[in-house]
Amino acid sequence: MNQVSQKTRVWDLPTRLFHWLLVVCVVGALVTVKLGGNWMQWHLNFGIATLALLVFRVVWGLIGPRYARFNSFLPSIRAAWSHLRPTSTTHTRQAGHNPLGAWSVYAMLMLLLVQTSTGLFVSDDIMYQGPLSVLVSNDMVSRLTSVHKLGEWVIFAMLGLHVVAIGVYRFKGHGLVGPMIHGDVNTQQLLANTAPAQDDWRVRTGALILASLLAWLAWWLSTAQFGGILS
Ligand code: HEM
Ligand code: HEM
Repeated sequence: MNQVSQKTRVWDLPTRLFHWLLVVCVVGALVTVKLGGNWMQWHLNFGIATLALLVFRVVWGLIGPRYARFNSFLPSIRAAWSHLRPTSTTHTRQAGHNPLGAWSVYAMLMLLLVQTSTGLFVSDDIMYQGPLSVLVSNDMVSRLTSVHKLGEWVIFAMLGLHVVAIGVYRFKGHGLVGPMIHGDVNTQQLLANTAPAQDDWRVRTGALILASLLAWLAWWLSTAQFGGILS
């Protein structure tokens, strides 16, 4: 009789959707800003959608299933260091982000939060401006615009590192992309007695409610006339 390969759910559907929608929105923001002209309106839309996704991920990190939770991958220099040293010959791995990956996840979330929140206050001095730029001084707008523009190179470096790191793990026999698509890891590849992540209708309904609320906030942010607040 063939041995059925057992799978363990590691990434819940909301976390996976978050990741791939984030990819679409960040790439969308980067492409449309290069196209310029009327595409800038799409840059703002993709940017605000990115911000909503990030807020979703922060809340999901507090209330979501086990491997998506921040307390399952707290940043630790000591743990990251021992992860880097090849002291063990075991081929099993822990579920969720490893201690080194944890640092990169926090770095990516922080950098994208800075990029999107500065975006709300920037202006090109011609046609397009972040929806909240009318609430701060011109001096502050120009400072935040410089930070926002500088962010481009930091984001490119960060994304390059992200994709290279995933390639290195693939080379070492740890495929990470598949689990980020379908959610599962072969149970034999995981440490013994690894508990699966909860990914049932309750988790998904909770995520849907949160996502709907944030989608509404994003829509409001992109359509509200904040200039009226000052007059
Ligand atoms: C992932 C998120 C984002 C990325 C990667 C990003 C990237 C960029 C880059 C690279 C530029 C500079 C283009 C240039 O050099 O001319 C730029 C400009 C701009 N961004 Fe974003 N942005 C993001 C989010 C946002 C958000 C949330 C808003 C506002 C809602 C926004 C509004 C603007 C505006 C108005 C400009 C024009 C500034 C100027 O040309 O001086 N961006 N963005
Ligand atoms: C704009 C591009 C991208 C951004 C902003 C991005 C961002 C992120 C973030 C924030 C996480 C943490 C996920 C979480 O815990 O919620 C992550 C994980 C991950 N990303 Fe990306 N990503 C990008 C592109 C890609 C691409 C192109 C791939 C595939 C080659 C990829 C594969 C993965 C994988 C496999 C993980 C899970 C890593 C692990 O198991 O620890 N990402 N990414």
